[in-house]
Amino acid sequence: MSDQYLVRIEGKNTDIAVEETQSILDAALRANEWLPHSCTQGTCGTCKLKVLRGEVDHRQTPEYTLTVEERAEGLALGCMATPRSDLTVEPLGNVSDDGVPRHPLRDYEGTVVVLDDIAANTRRLVIELDTPMQFNAGQYAELIVPEHAGARQYSMANPPTETRRLEFHIKLTAGGLSTDGWIFRSMTLGERVSLRGPLGQFNLVAKQDEPAILIGGGTGLAPLKSIVQHALVEDLVPELFLYHGGRRREDLYDVEFFRDLEHRHPHFHYRPVLSEEQWEGATGLVTDVVVSDFPSCKGMSAFLCGPPAMVDAAVKALKRRRMAPRLIFREEFAITPAT
Ligand code: FES
Repeated sequence: MSDQYLVRIEGKNTDIAVEETQSILDAALRANEWLPHSCTQGTCGTCKLKVLRGEVDHRQTPEYTLTVEERAEGLALGCMATPRSDLTVEPLGNVSDDGVPRHPLRDYEGTVVVLDDIAANTRRLVIELDTPMQFNAGQYAELIVPEHAGARQYSMANPPTETRRLEFHIKLTAGGLSTDGWIFRSMTLGERVSLRGPLGQFNLVAKQDEPAILIGGGTGLAPLKSIVQHALVEDLVPELFLYHGGRRREDLYDVEFFRDLEHRHPHFHYRPVLSEEQWEGATGLVTDVVVSDFPSCKGMSAFLCGPPAMVDAAVKALKRRRMAPRLIFREEFAITPAT
């Protein structure tokens, strides 16, 4: 049994108990005390906080995310740092109530009920949970890889009304612990799995006046599928444009699903794009197709998830098209190796 310390979060009137081996972020989210975070892997820096009192262990905090100088100034990453004493910390990100519903982080058990090949080296995994998980459209969960200490992050693709059946889209990574070593190799229907969630602050939950452009690359489509379904049912946006980029036709999936949604919702537009194959649909880099479709993106918002190069290119292209940076949202966990 490890020691516990009390951590006070400046700006909130509560002390939370944190195990000496537990990150400050993990303890806060389990106590339903929201702290800004995205990747939970020490790579994005969203969870930076200032240690006002006490001492932390930075553990494997990478230097590219938190420099030596920042450590000397008393900064730490909430998702990596563990307490060495009672602490008072002050998050650098915004912790004020922005109207987004918060759901406490919890551990879950479930059963694999769907395991289908849906595109080249891509599987749809559906897990039926023993107990429901509340989450926001766009959030993710961590699947615990059996017989390893590791966990891997996958976005829920189902709408948040489906709290018992979580859908994930998973791309094979050669040699990857979670994919090559488990989901594409030994996983079977009926297998019991452990996971934790929800995590992340990539979401679309509030009604907005701006039309939204959603751009997904590969399995970056998953959180966008959840967002699309939620936004259409709740009528959150005046107009919704979904772009899904792949190299070849075999990389696309759920095409009929989105085409059907398009027929039923006149303000939803779906555009799959292939970069390495001519076909009857759009061809080229998905960001180039977006740029040619929209001479101006002023007054619009964007939600981006996919390979980092695609997301970076999309951010630059949208800014060039005069989209306000504060209205561009990107899923940051995709910058970690998707093994
Ligand atoms: Fe902590 Fe990304 S570095 S959430």
